Order: sequence, then structure tokens, then C-alpha cells
Amino acid sequence: MSPDPTPGAVGAPRPRIEGRLKVTGAAPYAADVPVPDLAHGWMVTSTVSRGRVRDIDASTALGMPGVLGVLDHRNAPRLNPEAGNYFGPDGSLRLLQDEVIPYAGWPLALVVAETPEQARAAAAALRVTCDVEPHDLDLRPEHPAARPASTAFGPEADTGDLDAELAASSVVVEERYRTPEESHCAMEPHAATAWWDSDHLYAVDSNQGAFSVSQVLAVLWSVDRERVHVRSEHVGGGFGGKGACGPQVVLGSMASRRFGRPVRIAMTRAQVFGTTSSRPRTDQVMTIGADADGRLRAIHHRAAYALSPLSEYIEWCTEQAKILYSARAIRTRLTAVPLDILPPASMRGPGATPGSFALESAIDEVAERLDMDPLELRLRNQPAVTPVSGKPFSTRRVVSCMREGARRFGWAARDRRPRSRREGPLLIGSGMATTSFSAGVFPSTASITAEADGAFTVSIGASDIGTGARTALTAVAADALGVGAERVRVRIGDSDLGMAWGAGGSRGTTSWSFAITEAARELRQLLDDPVRPLTATVDTTTRIDFQPDRERQTYSAVFAEVTVDPATGEVRVRRLLGMFAVGRVINPLLARSQVVGGMIMGLSMALHEESVRDPRTGLLANGDFAGYHIAAHADVPDIEADFVADYEPQDPSGFNGLGEIGTAGTAAAIANAVWHATGTRHRTLPLRLDRVLEQATAVAGERRAV
Ligand code: MOS
Repeated sequence: MSPDPTPGAVGAPRPRIEGRLKVTGAAPYAADVPVPDLAHGWMVTSTVSRGRVRDIDASTALGMPGVLGVLDHRNAPRLNPEAGNYFGPDGSLRLLQDEVIPYAGWPLALVVAETPEQARAAAAALRVTCDVEPHDLDLRPEHPAARPASTAFGPEADTGDLDAELAASSVVVEERYRTPEESHCAMEPHAATAWWDSDHLYAVDSNQGAFSVSQVLAVLWSVDRERVHVRSEHVGGGFGGKGACGPQVVLGSMASRRFGRPVRIAMTRAQVFGTTSSRPRTDQVMTIGADADGRLRAIHHRAAYALSPLSEYIEWCTEQAKILYSARAIRTRLTAVPLDILPPASMRGPGATPGSFALESAIDEVAERLDMDPLELRLRNQPAVTPVSGKPFSTRRVVSCMREGARRFGWAARDRRPRSRREGPLLIGSGMATTSFSAGVFPSTASITAEADGAFTVSIGASDIGTGARTALTAVAADALGVGAERVRVRIGDSDLGMAWGAGGSRGTTSWSFAITEAARELRQLLDDPVRPLTATVDTTTRIDFQPDRERQTYSAVFAEVTVDPATGEVRVRRLLGMFAVGRVINPLLARSQVVGGMIMGLSMALHEESVRDPRTGLLANGDFAGYHIAAHADVPDIEADFVADYEPQDPSGFNGLGEIGTAGTAAAIANAVWHATGTRHRTLPLRLDRVLEQATAVAGERRAV
């Protein structure tokens, strides 16, 4: 199956290098770094969803203790409007540039003071008046402003004769699935400390890629990229919510420019909810047709998602419909609906997570209608090549995930009839789902220095947002150099270390490992030279293009067992098991931690998470941890997660990413288990008590009527 690598640091279960620093509180985060002469900024944000600022009266605030000044659209430094994110120009970066209010939570002013308390008190004394305009928050696929989503990630699917295949199908399932807006809820709230020195901008910022943040700041300020220095040594989680250049560092750089002092902005949890990106709401219709023997004839996946007109973003819900199953006809349509909302962005397993909820729920519904085992239905429709593109697959071990997961879970003993298991008053059910997540590699630069003392220093603009990247890359470098891990020191989290992809898109570790492996190869060729220190630097930009055009994905099969209390509507996940195919595993300890964390996020999505907006104002009604529920320890069962043997032939070391695959399939597995327990389908997440209770009551009522 794979070139069996010689035993080395890769494959060994080492704990995180910085673990001790973190648990002893010694690891500095963006709001911890000591800076002399520091001032503090406090955001004042809009409480209406659409309108214009008429006036900001700062007279009281300016007279309050410690206040250095107030920044708003009338006196803020001008920013270059061409600045953008991964998808292009991004209007949400143009902070304090005009009086237009595009969403509730939009920063209207920044109060700067000697202490955060003084800034906060003065912010409360600011009097903002604005003209309110009617807003629209209503996600409807038929919305007049709805438009086809960007196809920058790939074309829509249109294979076969969809109508004919549906007409010829013995069973057709057509259902609508909805997923809510969600917030990333990283443990560390967004924070930045910024200062200017001789026309250089310095920032310590909480983000997922210091280099890309430095690029955006350079455009915003129209300065050379080399004059912007962003550090993010330790980051307390991101999940996509810190993937772009955040408002904290933009505003921090503006305030420090204006007041000539270093300025720190540390958001409150409520500000993180209100002013940083979220996963967009989706509204999806799945139509699947199958023969009586379970062969799929047609898959039609329509998905609409909420977008802001400020910036482009693709919630790529429809990708898995083009990857997972063979069918004679496959059609996908992705629709963006611009609304007066906070601009959405990637959240763990972007696209695939809401998309798989729809696809894998619908597949389960097809199995139900055919009275067929849902695992068997999936096994019967495995494609030999990528269904829509016709591309050969790279490694594709999804069947191994399903079979091994089923064996460990005891799936064969399951009675597939719904409501067939009870324990006292509780209904018990089990369900499963599979999915894939796109894998690959982006350009990065790595330098490795052979030091005089025999050690090696690896420098790469990588980001460790809590994943253990530092530890994983140490092992990768050690094996690539052919030395023990104790001789390798890895420096990351600094834009001065060179161009590098960030921690995102499940492509951080693969991109950085590729660059490190190439740099190590070059350095080894030079090591005869006695001169020390001796450095090799590699930029992988031109080396990546030569990889073969194969469909490169990671895969999962997730199995869940739930209990449902029909009297209260309470769903509890009792068992959760995930098998994953993610290429060669670098560090089983960290990899398991990643996918277990991902599965917990999927569980949380299934049962708890939703941002609720007040339709009158557009403000979040639950923008804090009291109102926005995330899975707590008591919600999380003993989770089993493991990896099937796998090797990615397109990667020099056999790796694929695993940051997102854990989340993507979990919600569908749990929803399918709830159907199995109760006999009722839930097509809207989360599976709240009131929804489950209502439906359970309806079923009981029907039974009585019969
Ligand atoms: Mo990820 S959601 O691309 O940080």
C-alpha cells in the first residue's frame, strides 16, 4: 500500500512541546505580551443592522479619566479599499471609513484610554445617533438578491439526465434541511497589540496565519509587506474564526497610528460573537432517486447560504455530492443570498459540515424508504473514479473506515426498524454517516539552519492554533533531516519567517511539511560543507504545480448511539465512534485529539449550537456563553476515534490534513440515530428539546389516532 517509512519521529505519540507552558500559564497570547507605554482600545459597535451614522457625540467620553481619544469615521486614518481576503476584496476590512452601517455589531468607533476599564467606561458614554434603514436577515433561496455562488472552488455538477433518472427511480427522497448560523467560540477571544516604529507596523495578534495577516495589513496601509511584522506565537483556537485579518488588529493598527502609542484591543466574548465571522445559515434541498436494489440513479443537491454583500465567501455545501457516491445523474446548485449580516467565513469543516448533514441525512432516508441497511446502501454506491469530474481518486479508504467502524461499533447487531430499542422510558437509536473533506497543499517557505552545535533550527511562518503544529513539524523535520527530534527546534508564528499558508483548509500541516521536507533535502546535500551555521531555504510555489491531477480527499465514517427521552425531548449521545482516513498519521496523540475535538464540535452542532438573532434589530439574542450553548463535558460521551492505515501518494511523506474531517460527518450520524430512536426525522439543526419534544408528541398522537 505504501512505501513503509523507516521508524522515526513521525508516528510517535509525543505530547505537545509547549504543553507545559500552556498549563502553567507561561505561554503568552496576543493580549499578554508586555509592551511599554501601552494604551487600550474599546470597540463601540452598532446596535442596528442597517443604516447610517448621523452623529457620534464624544464630548462626555473625551473628558473622562485616562481617555486619549476617540476614533471614528471622521478622524480615522484612511485605509486602502483594495485590501481583501482569500476570496477577493473585503469591505469588512474598511473599518471606520464611512458612515454606512452594514450589520449589527459593526464597529462604529474605538475609544482609546490608558486602561481597558477607562476605555470601556468612556465607550459607554459615547452617544451615537443614526438613521435606521430596513434590514433583511431572512435566508430564502428565492430571495430577489440570491445569486449563483462563486465557482472559484470548482464548477457545479451537471452529469446525466437528472429528470429521466428521477422518473425511472423506484424511490425518490426530496427533503429540505436547515442549519443555523454558528459561532466558532475559540477559547481565546480575538485580541491584538499593535504599534508603529519608523514606518514599520508591529502586531502581536490572535490569528491562524501571521503571514497572510501581514499581507492584508500591508495593503490596507499601502506599505511594503516587509514593513509589517505580525507575531502569533500562541493562539487559543481559531476554527476558521481567526482565518482572516481580524478587526482587532486593523483597529489596533489604526489607533496606534493615530495616537502614537502601542494599542491593545482584547475583545470580550460578546464582541467576538457580534463582530467576528460566523458559519453561515444554510437552507438545502436534497433530491435522491434510487432503484429498488439500492443503486443510486440521481443526486440533486441545492444549497443556499447567507452571505454579506461586503465580501465574497463560498460555503461549499455541495462538494460531497460530487465525491461520495456514484449515480447516473448528479446536479449541484449553490446559491449565495446577500443579507444585512456579519460577513460569514469558514468554520471547521466549512461547506462539508452543513452539506454533509443534508446529504448524509437524505442517504439515510433513502435507506429507510428501501428498508435497507444504511451502511449497505453506502457500500453499494461506491464510485471507482470521482463521479462528476472523472478524475482518478488519490488514496480513498472510506470503505475501510465504514467496515472497521461498523465492526468496532457492533453495527451488525442493529435492528434497523425505528423505535425498536427501549430502556425504561428512553428510546435508543444508532446511526452513521460518512463524508470526505478536500485535502491538498499550498505554497510555503521553510528555512533550516544547521547550527554549529549540531542542532537544526527550522523556521517557517506556520501557526499553532492549539493543534500541536509545532510538535508535528518537529517530528517531520527530524525524519526529513535523519536526526533525532531532540536536535530540532522549530520557530513558527511570525510573518518575518517568510511566506507560508496559515492553519486552515486542513492544509496547514501538509503545506508546511512539504516545505520543510524540501528544505531538509537541500540542506542534506550541503552538509559536507564544514561552514556553520549553514542554511537552506525553499519556497514550494513552483514545486507544487507538478503534482498529478487526482482527487485528494480525507474520509470518515462516524457512528453514534443516542438516547431520547420522549417526555422531555432530551437527546443524549451515549456512544460516538469515528474512523478516519487521513493519510499517514504524524502523531497519533495529537491526531486523535484533533478528530475527537472535531467530533465534539459536530456533536455540539447537532444538539446545541445556533446563533439566534432578534428579527427586529438583527442583534444576537444569545451572543454569550449563557445563551449560546456549546457541548460541555457532561454532554460528551466516551469517544472512540482511530485511523485506518493510509498513505497519500501525492505528498512526499504520505500526509493529508485532519483539522476538519472530524466535524463534517458527525451531526448527520447523530440525527440519523435520533430518527432510529424515535422514528421521526429532524431536518433542522440543532435537535433542540422543543423540536424533538414536538415531534415525539406528534408521533404519539398519530399512534393514538391509529
Ligand atoms: Mo478552517 S474552518 O479552514 O480554519
